[in-house]
Amino acid sequence: MQRRGRFITLEGGEGVGKSTNLAWIVEHLEARGLEVVCTREPGGTPRAEAIRGLLIDPAADEPLDDDAELLLVFAARAQHLARVVRPALARGAWVVCDRFTDATFAYQGGGRGIPAARIAELETFVQQGLAPDLTLLLDMPMAAAQRRLEGRLERSGGQRDRFERERGEFFEAVRHAYLARAAAEPERIAVVDAERALDEVQAELGRLLDAHLEAS
Ligand SMILES: Nc1ncnc2c1ncn2[C@@H]1O[C@H](COP(=O)(O)OP(=O)(O)OP(=O)(O)O)[C@@H](O)[C@H]1O
Ligand SMILES: [Mg+2]
Repeated sequence: MQRRGRFITLEGGEGVGKSTNLAWIVEHLEARGLEVVCTREPGGTPRAEAIRGLLIDPAADEPLDDDAELLLVFAARAQHLARVVRPALARGAWVVCDRFTDATFAYQGGGRGIPAARIAELETFVQQGLAPDLTLLLDMPMAAAQRRLEGRLERSGGQRDRFERERGEFFEAVRHAYLARAAAEPERIAVVDAERALDEVQAELGRLLDAHLEAS
């Protein structure tokens, strides 16, 4: 029987370099002969992307209730797992995902203040034991990440989404929650200093991925 593929997630606050490094990780794994599915959350399927739209829309006329936000995140996740992640893992592909449930504990837990136990109930309900094999947490002070984001926004002429409009203390709480998860699960979550130059960050990501490959 073919071995189940691996589920790798990339985490961290806004602007730490997740999307930039995700593309590099996919190339790195493909160069090692693996089938790689590159995806993201919330989203990853057309319906789940529509839910993402509801989550990030900054429309000011109707604030989004915190519990509704949490349930939308998990609704998108259920769809994404059923349509993309589980089928890919079952056929032996490696799935590399930009954000997953650690982000829910960080944003809806740390940022919004929803108790972790409540999030964990939904995690059990939706994931039924499925968890990432390896999580790469890109970590850096949020003020520095914010400056990167401003550079990206200027270049794209883009508008800030509903999360990007949050204040500094929200992002500090998000970072703190991510680091607490990494401390609680050091076997699964590797903390990578993302403030360094991109080639240094990628050298470390490559080492972590290769160590994971060798161990498999
Ligand atoms: N190590 C680095 N050094 C300097 N700039 C970087 C580095 N990594 C990424 N960047 C730049 O920082 C900006 C944000 O990076 P990126 O979009 O990958 O972050 P992100 O974590 O995906 O953000 P978001 O949470 O908003 O999706 C981009 O302009 C990117 O080119
Ligand atoms: Mg991104």
